[in-house]
Order: sequence, then C-alpha cells, then structure tokens
Amino acid sequence: MSGAPVDMSVRLGPLSLRSPMMVASGTFGFGEEYAPYVDFARLGAVVTKGVTLRPREGNPGPRIHETAAGALNAIGLQNPGVERVIEEKLPPLLAAGVPVIVNIAGEAPEEYVALAERLSGVAGLAALELNVSCPNVTRGGMEFGRDPQVLGDLVRAVRDATPLPLIVKLSPNVSDPVPLAAAALEAGAEILSLINTLLGMAIDPRRRRPKLANCTGGLSGPAIKPVALRMVWQVWRALQPPIIGMGGIMTGEDAAEFMLAGAAAVAVGTASFVDPTSAERVGDELEAFCQSQGLPAVAGLTGALEY
Ligand SMILES: Cc1cc2nc3c(=O)[nH]c(=O)nc-3n(C[C@H](O)[C@H](O)[C@H](O)COP(=O)(O)O)c2cc1C
Repeated sequence: MSGAPVDMSVRLGPLSLRSPMMVASGTFGFGEEYAPYVDFARLGAVVTKGVTLRPREGNPGPRIHETAAGALNAIGLQNPGVERVIEEKLPPLLAAGVPVIVNIAGEAPEEYVALAERLSGVAGLAALELNVSCPNVTRGGMEFGRDPQVLGDLVRAVRDATPLPLIVKLSPNVSDPVPLAAAALEAGAEILSLINTLLGMAIDPRRRRPKLANCTGGLSGPAIKPVALRMVWQVWRALQPPIIGMGGIMTGEDAAEFMLAGAAAVAVGTASFVDPTSAERVGDELEAFCQSQGLPAVAGLTGALEY
C-alpha cells in the first residue's frame, strides 16, 4: 500500500488491539476452517462461536437461507460444550498470535456464571463476550437481553465470577438499545458489541412452509447495516462506551461508517461466508480509506460523525 502509514491500533476499553478488525461470533467457528486462508495475526481479535456448558446439536435443518442482501440462520448454538472447546478448540487458536475472545451463552444465569468461572482458568484469553441476544434458541438467549433489570443482574453475576474483561452483545430486537447498554455497563461490562441478528422469516409459497425448520431465524448481512449503524450511533451518543460495531460490513468504507457512528472496533460476520479472507481485506481497505482521508490513525474515526 502506498502513502503515509496509518496507525491501525485501537483501544477497546481495557484491550489494546493491533487493528480494529475482528471476526463476529458464529461466522468463524473456532478458526480451524479459516486457518489456511487467513493470517490471524493481522486481525485485532478472533471471537469464537457461541459456547455453552454442555454440548448442543443445534436446530434441525434447513438452518440457513440466503435472502436479498443477507442470510437468515437458525443454527441454535451448535457447539461441542465448554470442556471440549477448552481441550481441543482453544489451544490452536491461542497459539495463533491473535487475542481470543470466547462468546458464551446459557439458558440460566448460573450457566453463564459457570462458563465464566471455567474459562477464567484458561490462560491467555483476552475477554468473554456474553451472548444475551441469540434469537434462535427456545430458552435463554434473547430473553436476557430485553429487560435492563434482568440483563443487569446477569452481568453482575458474571462480573463477580471472572477477572476477564466482559463484552455484552446486545440485541437489535428491542425498540431502544440505550437502557440495555446502560444496564450492562453499570453492572460491570467494559465493552458492548452490537448488533446481533434481527429476528426474521422466509416462506416457500408453493410448499406453504417456512424455509427454515425453526420457522424464524436471525437476519444478517448488508440488509441489516442501516439498523446496526443506527443502534451503534444511538448507544454511542448516549453513553460513549467502547463498542464493537457489526452488521453487514462488507468493505472498508462500511467499517469506517461504523467507527464514525461510535465503534472503536468492528467485526465482519456474514461476509466471511462469501469470502473467507473478508476480514483481512476489509482491514486493508479501511487502512486505504484512512490514507485517502489523510488520517494518521484509524482511532480518529471513532465517534467523529458530524451531524
Ligand atoms: C451463521 C451465524 C451464526 C451466528 N452465531 C452467533 C453466536 O453463536 N453468538 C453470537 O453472539 N452471535 C452469533 N451470530 C451473529 C453474528 O456474530 C453477528 O452479530 C451478526 O451476524 C451481524 O453481523 P454480519 O451482518 O456481519 O453477519 C451468528 C451469525 C450468523 C450469520
């Protein structure tokens, strides 16, 4: 890349990252399928697929359906459970030279607490991300992320259980994310990530059946970008917390938009299904964008929206 070098490092609450580019939970597995294609060390952090206390098979198929400008998924938190994740999945990722953030989900507060305690014993983890916004499970998931009191109690319990930095991943399936963001921060979360997928549905009119076996699923991809930008901006304007912005990021300019709205870091999700090297490419494009704007440091974009 020609032109003056851009400082791509960012501070994200207690974390110092070499780049704002991250990969979003559930779209990068535990990294193993991506290892041949992606230089993990060029990313700011890798966020794992959602991990639960016990193994989960997830929902029956079909579980993914492509939509106009996006995808609907109802995976249902399929994962091998925390013990196998710790034994088999985390060691290669922790050796890859990139901060590792483990995304956790539970059906009850006690499960989040047990996961946090167990993962606190794993050396080298950068942070935990609490998924309180999964739209595709019958118990737990989104119900923790819709009521500020319930969310605050959950975050406080997890905060007491771990010294690791806590990220709370907020749901877009609420009318106003600000009270939830405030509750999470007050209860001890250092970082917020938003947004998770938007609850949606697709129907096959000839068969008169839903296209997903689960009937409803979570919408992701470019279709949700305007909603995600609006929510990042709303939360930033009200509270100025450290934010990981995501929702439909496909290009460096998309990433710049999220940072202008208030994100300190950004995550690429569905785009990795289209091209496994998306996160690296978006990072390069973001750097080129900063150069074209004469910006010496990418961190200067955060919250710099003029309105
Ligand atoms: C197939 C799939 C699986 C996902 N699994 C998780 C998950 O386990 N935990 C979580 O917090 N978010 C999960 N998400 C949400 C993404 O991390 C991200 O918030 C969302 O897809 C928006 O970003 P995108 O439009 O760039 O994909 C998943 C998304 C997809 C598409």
